[in-house]
Amino acid sequence: MEQELNELFESLTKTNDERLPYLKSALEIAQCAGNIIEDAFYKLKNVTGKGDVADLVTETDKLVEKLIFDYLKDLYPSHSFIGEESVSDGASARLSDNPTWVVDPIDGTTNFVHMNPNVAVCIGLIINKRTEVGVVLAPILKETYVVVRSLGGYCNGKRLHIKNPVPSLSQALIASEWGASRDQYQIETKGKNFMDIMLKHNVHGMRCTGSAALNMALIASNAIDLYFEWGPHIWDFAASSLLVEEAGGVTTCTDGSEMGLMGRTVISASSKKLIDELVPTLTQIPTPRDDE
Ligand code: IPD
Repeated sequence: MEQELNELFESLTKTNDERLPYLKSALEIAQCAGNIIEDAFYKLKNVTGKGDVADLVTETDKLVEKLIFDYLKDLYPSHSFIGEESVSDGASARLSDNPTWVVDPIDGTTNFVHMNPNVAVCIGLIINKRTEVGVVLAPILKETYVVVRSLGGYCNGKRLHIKNPVPSLSQALIASEWGASRDQYQIETKGKNFMDIMLKHNVHGMRCTGSAALNMALIASNAIDLYFEWGPHIWDFAASSLLVEEAGGVTTCTDGSEMGLMGRTVISASSKKLIDELVPTLTQIPTPRDDE
């Protein structure tokens, strides 16, 4: 572990910060989950579909979510839990004031199915409706992101700071995603937005990693300048939006208003200026909230 991350742990210890055990448990169970994902990565998967034709789930998603939930529920029985697979099996995704662990066992399940390395375990702890602690661990890429509100975000032990944000979209490398829906209006509108951005702003390029959490982690790491999407869920971005914030970036809804964890529309960027430049170009896509 790098010196800078040791300093984070020392500072949490010195101030008797209640978030220290939470961070340690999230990191420990994310590492176990990462090992399971790595073991299963090149093997044949048992893939099933969820609501949308391209919304996939594997036995590893379910196994990993159960492992993480069992571990955290045992340690923190009074806390609440929201997990991608539990919600798709009918559990509630409503956020209360109770400390709530939000878990995506594999962000980038489609990548996992196709042996594309952009996959990550995401664990966020939300207290009073704000993410306080987050871990995003990409086992194939060998990247571990940790973040604690007001104390910073780290990748493989090194502190993340957004450096020299580009002044305009015309100098930006951006990312978005097609998402799992194959609804014609959604696909056409996303396609129109992508074309409009290319033609009106002459961005340097547009990427789709296939993982909302890793798109955001890339902003915190200075590897892309902006990511936007209609459709990601609270478990995809609870931890990674804090990574962006702690690195000096900003996350809003796709209309530029304040980000809501239940909102399912996001723009994350190295600066608010880029978001303000993008928003007038976008045709908005009505998207149901996670708590609807
Ligand atoms: C999905 C991925 C994908 C994004 C979707 C997410 P999942 O998460 O992050 O890139 O386009 O919006 O739901 O289903 O792989 O956990």
